[in-house]
Amino acid sequence: MDKLIVANLKMNLNFEQIKEYKKIIGESDIKNFILCPSYIYLNYMKSNSYEVCSQNGYYKDEGACTGEISFYQLNKLGIKYSLIGHSERRHVFNESNDLISLKMENCIKNNVTPILCVGETEEDKNKGLTNEVIDTQINTALSKVKLSDVIIAYEPVWAIGTGLTPTIDDINNIHLHIKEMLKSVHNIESKVLYGGSVKLNNIKEIIENQNVDGVLIGSASNDPNNLLNMYNEVK
Ligand code: PGA
Repeated sequence: MDKLIVANLKMNLNFEQIKEYKKIIGESDIKNFILCPSYIYLNYMKSNSYEVCSQNGYYKDEGACTGEISFYQLNKLGIKYSLIGHSERRHVFNESNDLISLKMENCIKNNVTPILCVGETEEDKNKGLTNEVIDTQINTALSKVKLSDVIIAYEPVWAIGTGLTPTIDDINNIHLHIKEMLKSVHNIESKVLYGGSVKLNNIKEIIENQNVDGVLIGSASNDPNNLLNMYNEVK
């Protein structure tokens, strides 16, 4: 299976648990796997068998920005990926499309590959605005960057942490729309991942779709054994 599995641990797991996580995943045969632990574990979690990814970053290289971390610092630490614009950053921490665009620019400048998260709210969906919202999020995010290596994660806000998912047809159609838009407007071909309530019982039917290049898993990845069970379903 050459599709990508990204696990976002969010603000979960204490140091004892993360040590156990590293041991269990490190002893497995998992491939094409990217792990997003809390910042404080990024360096510790580096491994030869998977990549580590930051959950966020700030758009300045260095300076008086207490509590933030920079893509410049990530690059110097050997971290190759960062999530940008995750739904919780947008909706809990009020990050705007414009701020996300500055982050994208700085992230790419520092040779860190962004995994840009986009997705509509339930209200957007009910108003039939899904594609429009996604287009604005992607186009603004890419407005300051040149042709580049970007991964997109389509994560409907209403599907994150709720147990709800779009239909397989909807996922396929939205991914196709994103791919066509990226090609026609930006002339890039990017991987498009699906995220939002990906679990053991639905990973296979989601990841097997032609327009789905991988998945972004949140809560179901907190337990490393469950994550490996999911991987075994699709490998
Ligand atoms: P979830 O989270 O799998 O718990 O829905 C996904 C995410 O936030 O990326």
